Amino acid sequence: MQADIIVVAAGKGERMGRELPKPFLPVGGLPLLIHTLRAITQSSLIANIILVAAPEREALCHDILRAHGRFHVPVTVVHGGAERQDSVRLGLAALDTTSEIVAIHDAARPFLDREILERSIETAALHGAALVAVPARDTIKRVGEDGTVVETIPRQQLWLAQTPQTFRVALIREAHARALAGGVVVTDDAALLEHWGQVVKIVPGSYRNFKITTPEDLLVAEALLRIG
Ligand code: CTP
Ligand code: MG
Repeated sequence: MQADIIVVAAGKGERMGRELPKPFLPVGGLPLLIHTLRAITQSSLIANIILVAAPEREALCHDILRAHGRFHVPVTVVHGGAERQDSVRLGLAALDTTSEIVAIHDAARPFLDREILERSIETAALHGAALVAVPARDTIKRVGEDGTVVETIPRQQLWLAQTPQTFRVALIREAHARALAGGVVVTDDAALLEHWGQVVKIVPGSYRNFKITTPEDLLVAEALLRIG
């Protein structure tokens, strides 16, 4: 079974603090986005890529794709919105009507493993929703507004959400439509399904699949690319 993938790249990259948003910053001599697209196209399960970018970066996307993006999978560029959730919803609207399974992936995660992407597609086909996540490595505390510890949350139950998050198209479309109507705002797509009581299955991810967020992350990415 094949799937489409929405790659969200329409953020501003405020925590990175650079003029260009993260997907367009060079890492190992190539725009970050190209590394991400190359990782995705390692899988023969991906039929179409919807690349969601800010309207003012659309021309840059096309330039980069022309220069580096000779992929065997078609890439369609669509406009994103103010919040990540808006960008995903606009990406969903651009899917072909025949599309049944969709993976949603951050452009800022270039170290995606083919096996993990494929496992998330298989899990979504079976259960409806798959969330790639890794066990929390640190001890996590809930802290009150006065700066004192309220409790230690048992680590065995804590997982850190990554992307891809993969869904049956009808299910995630409905979740986004309901969220829009109800004013529900969340930071990841799986949370929309959780909100409506839908089952979301975990697919174990990898710590390499981290999201490039700050200047230090860019240095780590450079180092990982060097050692391969
Ligand atoms: N994203 C998006 N549309 C938005 C916000 C985010 O497509 N309105 C994308 C980003 O481009 C990124 C992914 O969602 O690939 C994860 O978001 P994040 O790491 O928060 O990126 P930014 O929002 O760009 O960074 P920041 O929060 O530091 O501004
Ligand atoms: Mg953000």
